Amino acid sequence: GVESLMRIPPSVLKKHNTREDAWSVFNGKVYNITAYLPFHPGGEKELMRVAGRDGSKLFASTHAWVNVDFMLDTCLVGFLVSEPSL
Ligand code: HEM
Repeated sequence: GVESLMRIPPSVLKKHNTREDAWSVFNGKVYNITAYLPFHPGGEKELMRVAGRDGSKLFASTHAWVNVDFMLDTCLVGFLVSEPSL
Protein backbone atom coordinates (compact mmCIF):
# COMPACT_ATOMS: atom_id res chain seq x y z
CA GLY A 1 0.00 0.00 0.00
CA VAL A 2 0.92 3.68 -0.24
CA GLU A 3 1.86 3.71 3.47
CA SER A 4 4.87 1.49 2.78
CA LEU A 5 6.35 3.89 0.22
CA MET A 6 9.35 6.00 1.13
CA ARG A 7 10.01 9.71 1.11
CA ILE A 8 13.28 10.05 -0.76
CA PRO A 9 15.46 13.19 -0.84
CA PRO A 10 17.94 13.87 -3.72
CA SER A 11 20.94 12.81 -1.55
CA VAL A 12 19.50 9.30 -1.23
CA LEU A 13 18.33 9.14 -4.84
CA LYS A 14 21.79 9.86 -6.22
CA LYS A 15 23.34 6.85 -4.47
CA HIS A 16 21.28 4.57 -6.70
CA ASN A 17 23.10 5.31 -9.92
CA THR A 18 24.60 1.97 -11.01
CA ARG A 19 23.52 -0.74 -13.45
CA GLU A 20 22.94 -3.08 -10.49
CA ASP A 21 20.99 -0.54 -8.45
CA ALA A 22 19.34 2.19 -10.50
CA TRP A 23 16.61 4.53 -9.30
CA SER A 24 15.10 7.40 -11.24
CA VAL A 25 12.33 9.95 -10.82
CA PHE A 26 9.46 10.54 -13.22
CA ASN A 27 6.89 13.15 -12.26
CA GLY A 28 7.77 13.14 -8.57
CA LYS A 29 7.69 9.35 -8.23
CA VAL A 30 10.87 7.38 -7.51
CA TYR A 31 11.19 4.11 -9.42
CA ASN A 32 13.69 1.29 -9.17
CA ILE A 33 14.45 0.92 -12.90
CA THR A 34 17.06 -1.85 -12.48
CA ALA A 35 14.86 -4.72 -13.68
CA TYR A 36 13.51 -2.69 -16.59
CA LEU A 37 16.92 -1.70 -18.00
CA PRO A 38 17.36 -4.77 -20.28
CA PHE A 39 13.81 -4.31 -21.64
CA HIS A 40 14.00 -0.62 -22.54
CA PRO A 41 13.45 -0.31 -26.32
CA GLY A 42 15.87 2.63 -26.39
CA GLY A 43 18.63 0.60 -24.74
CA GLU A 44 20.20 0.47 -21.29
CA LYS A 45 22.69 3.23 -21.98
CA GLU A 46 19.96 5.78 -22.75
CA LEU A 47 17.98 4.88 -19.65
CA MET A 48 21.10 4.95 -17.45
CA ARG A 49 21.49 8.65 -18.26
CA VAL A 50 18.80 9.34 -15.66
CA ALA A 51 19.93 6.81 -13.02
CA GLY A 52 20.26 8.50 -9.64
CA ARG A 53 18.51 11.65 -10.80
CA ASP A 54 15.24 13.20 -11.91
CA GLY A 55 14.47 11.96 -15.43
CA SER A 56 11.18 13.84 -15.87
CA LYS A 57 12.41 16.46 -18.34
CA LEU A 58 14.48 14.10 -20.49
CA PHE A 59 11.62 11.61 -20.53
CA ALA A 60 9.09 14.27 -21.54
CA SER A 61 11.36 15.44 -24.35
CA THR A 62 11.93 11.92 -25.75
CA HIS A 63 8.65 10.01 -25.43
CA ALA A 64 5.95 11.77 -23.44
CA TRP A 65 3.39 9.35 -24.95
CA VAL A 66 4.82 6.39 -23.00
CA ASN A 67 2.85 5.65 -19.78
CA VAL A 68 5.51 5.35 -17.06
CA ASP A 69 2.92 5.21 -14.26
CA PHE A 70 1.48 2.07 -15.78
CA MET A 71 4.70 0.45 -17.03
CA LEU A 72 6.74 0.90 -13.88
CA ASP A 73 3.95 0.56 -11.33
CA THR A 74 5.50 -2.49 -9.63
CA CYS A 75 8.88 -0.70 -9.51
CA LEU A 76 7.58 2.26 -7.49
CA VAL A 77 9.78 2.93 -4.45
CA GLY A 78 8.37 6.22 -3.16
CA PHE A 79 8.19 9.96 -3.62
CA LEU A 80 10.89 12.55 -4.15
CA VAL A 81 10.99 15.12 -1.34
CA SER A 82 13.25 18.09 -0.74
CA GLU A 83 16.39 17.65 1.30
CA PRO A 84 15.62 17.84 5.02
CA SER A 85 17.42 20.83 6.59
CA LEU A 86 19.80 20.02 9.46
C1 HEM B 1 12.11 4.23 -26.71
C2 HEM B 1 15.41 7.02 -24.58
C3 HEM B 1 13.17 6.40 -20.34
C4 HEM B 1 10.07 3.36 -22.43
C5 HEM B 1 13.20 5.03 -26.49
C6 HEM B 1 14.09 5.51 -27.51
C7 HEM B 1 15.02 6.29 -26.93
C8 HEM B 1 14.72 6.31 -25.53
C9 HEM B 1 16.17 7.01 -27.60
C10 HEM B 1 13.96 5.21 -29.01
C11 HEM B 1 14.48 3.86 -29.34
C12 HEM B 1 14.34 3.56 -30.80
O1 HEM B 1 13.30 3.89 -31.39
O2 HEM B 1 15.28 2.98 -31.34
C13 HEM B 1 15.06 7.15 -23.25
C14 HEM B 1 15.68 8.03 -22.30
C15 HEM B 1 15.05 7.87 -21.11
C16 HEM B 1 14.03 6.86 -21.31
C17 HEM B 1 16.84 8.98 -22.58
C18 HEM B 1 15.31 8.59 -19.83
C19 HEM B 1 14.47 9.52 -19.42
C20 HEM B 1 12.15 5.50 -20.53
C21 HEM B 1 11.26 5.01 -19.51
C22 HEM B 1 10.38 4.17 -20.10
C23 HEM B 1 10.72 4.10 -21.49
C24 HEM B 1 11.30 5.39 -18.04
C25 HEM B 1 9.24 3.39 -19.54
C26 HEM B 1 9.24 2.85 -18.35
C27 HEM B 1 10.31 3.38 -23.78
C28 HEM B 1 9.45 2.77 -24.76
C29 HEM B 1 10.03 3.04 -26.00
C30 HEM B 1 11.25 3.79 -25.75
C31 HEM B 1 8.16 2.02 -24.49
C32 HEM B 1 9.46 2.69 -27.36
C33 HEM B 1 8.58 3.88 -27.69
C34 HEM B 1 8.02 3.90 -29.05
O3 HEM B 1 8.55 3.25 -29.94
O4 HEM B 1 7.01 4.63 -29.23
N1 HEM B 1 13.61 5.53 -25.29
N2 HEM B 1 14.06 6.46 -22.62
N3 HEM B 1 11.82 4.91 -21.72
N4 HEM B 1 11.39 3.97 -24.39
FE1 HEM B 1 12.73 5.18 -23.51
